[in-house]
Amino acid sequence: MEVKTICVIGAGAMGNGIAQVAAQAGYDVYMRDIDDKFVERGTEAIKKSLARIVKKGKISEDDAGKIVGRIKGTTDVKEAVSKADLIIEAATENIELKKKIFKELDELAPAHVILASNTSTIPIVIVGSSTNRPDKVVGMHFFNPVPMMKCVEVIKSLTTSDEAVKVAVEVAEKMGKSPVVVKDSPAFVANRLIVPFINEAVFALMEGIADSPEDIDTICKLSFGHPMGPLALADLVGLDVLLAVLEILHSETGDPKFRPAPLLRQMVRAGYLGQKAGRGFYDYGKK
Ligand code: 3HC
Repeated sequence: MEVKTICVIGAGAMGNGIAQVAAQAGYDVYMRDIDDKFVERGTEAIKKSLARIVKKGKISEDDAGKIVGRIKGTTDVKEAVSKADLIIEAATENIELKKKIFKELDELAPAHVILASNTSTIPIVIVGSSTNRPDKVVGMHFFNPVPMMKCVEVIKSLTTSDEAVKVAVEVAEKMGKSPVVVKDSPAFVANRLIVPFINEAVFALMEGIADSPEDIDTICKLSFGHPMGPLALADLVGLDVLLAVLEILHSETGDPKFRPAPLLRQMVRAGYLGQKAGRGFYDYGKK
């Protein structure tokens, strides 16, 4: 099946990043969110990211304009879905919400359309079973910031067809990514490794093992060669996202090693969600 048009559900950090790399790859893109202000914010983020790429001389201003021109921001789900060959959902990590979205997408999308979820944790088989086309439901897990990170985990559930996996792999490759096919298991591979690592850094901070977030991050950057420390990464990804991943890992496996650090939970409750909120483990100035 040839994919020409991609619909991205959600214009947040992941959604707008996916819409951007899809448009950069030459696809026509619909980027849908529930409110105009989210669509506008997503479009602004894409323009900023493209401006950085123009500044590096990798694309021209003209190219950037054409890329933006291929992305149609909308709040109309019917319009967004009706012309798509592939839909990539990038909404909040909540099982009930994802089930509801996939049920609706299944009802609205033409029969040939493949439904992908950018979920970082929720089993694809659950998402697929809320549709009448579980064979066409696949995971495509991108990483933040999407324009920079090369990997895409392609998740094949018990019900996903080989054809759906093939399409997801081909599209990811056309986006310039390196897809890796993995099994449908809580948090798959990448988040099963990185999220407990970040959680342990929060425990270390909470227990006063190091004096500050900076000290913990410095240790990791200089000891492991990581481009950023775990607490700065937590702020980039979003503390609410991390908490959701940990809660699902914890409840799906029952393993106490995935228990969220109480400080992480408190920070989410306080609204200190990281860069997007202007404050997380670091202060980014008021948003
Ligand atoms: N768009 C375009 N270019 C971008 C960009 C964006 N959104 N973000 C960064 N860049 C470019 C910059 O222009 C710069 O380019 P240059 O080196 O050619 O000048 C380059 O990236 C480096 O950026 P900065 O100098 O601003 O900062 P850093 O050197 O710290 O790099 C980073 C930023 C790429 C984010 C790097 O710190 C990094 O790789 N961090 C780790 C990110 C990571 O681990 N992501 C995975 C998180 S887990 C996840 O997403 C899963 C989810 O399900 C939870």
